[in-house]
Amino acid sequence: MLRAFGRLVAELDGTYIPGVDMGTTIEDLAVIGTVASDVACDRTDPSPWTALGVFCGIAAAVRHLDHTDLAGHRVVIQGVGHVGASLAQRLADAGAEVVVCDIDRARSERVAASVGGRSVAPEEVLGIACDVLAPCAQARVITTATVPTLGCRIVAGAANDMLSERSCADELAGMGITYVPDFLLNAGGVIHIHAIRSGWDHARLEGVVMGIGDRTGEVLERAEAAGRTPLDVAEELADERLGHPVSVPL
Ligand SMILES: NC(=O)c1ccc[n+]([C@@H]2O[C@H](COP(=O)([O-])OP(=O)(O)OC[C@H]3O[C@@H](n4cnc5c(N)ncnc54)[C@H](O)[C@@H]3O)[C@@H](O)[C@H]2O)c1
Repeated sequence: MLRAFGRLVAELDGTYIPGVDMGTTIEDLAVIGTVASDVACDRTDPSPWTALGVFCGIAAAVRHLDHTDLAGHRVVIQGVGHVGASLAQRLADAGAEVVVCDIDRARSERVAASVGGRSVAPEEVLGIACDVLAPCAQARVITTATVPTLGCRIVAGAANDMLSERSCADELAGMGITYVPDFLLNAGGVIHIHAIRSGWDHARLEGVVMGIGDRTGEVLERAEAAGRTPLDVAEELADERLGHPVSVPL
């Protein structure tokens, strides 16, 4: 299957470069790379960098809302695979109360024990009263049906394509929940890929990934000042920086 996928990628002739994502490993990308025209993440796992960016973004969101650091704040992580487990460790080191959940119950218990946190069942996770819900598993967990059941004040995680529909951003705002857009928070992995290809040193890579915290703060301030959602503002910023519209309807 991986080689068949690689052959399809080769047909695209470099317009698509696959990288590690949910359910795949660097070993998988190395197999794809034996036939694809180009692959990323076949030697190094980007996930710790993704987790660092998510961590900085969560810290910035808490700073924006509460004017404090993360200590004592409860963060619930849905999915403790490559990104979620690394994020859990960073949050615990910063003094946050960490609650984790994974459909792999043994993994959930293991990560909870290793960070001094608590493991909860997947069916409970969205409703737990907490400061931050960090979806770090599958896409589209925030839906019109789940928004009213959320127990958090902030939604900020690594999961790609987190909202089932664009209107969920407005529904979250209507519930007083701050949503930090997924593409803003989880860019650390892609920045890592760019850094390798551009020959950046460790310090430069770390600085740019940690800049996700500043960018999150900027988006939340602009959104608050303009009475708009962070999603609208983040897309506008992306358009400004690229010089052309990138927004695509969900
Ligand atoms: N790996 C990266 O660098 C990277 C970069 C950007 C975005 N992301 C996104 O972050 C998310 C996690 O990626 P990853 O690389 O850590 O994946 P992973 O496969 O390493 O881990 C995902 C974990 O989520 C668990 N899971 C799946 N469904 C679940 C559910 N319904 N409830 C609870 N747990 C569930 C799995 O058992 C697994 O442990 C994905 O949405 C991915 O697209 C990852």
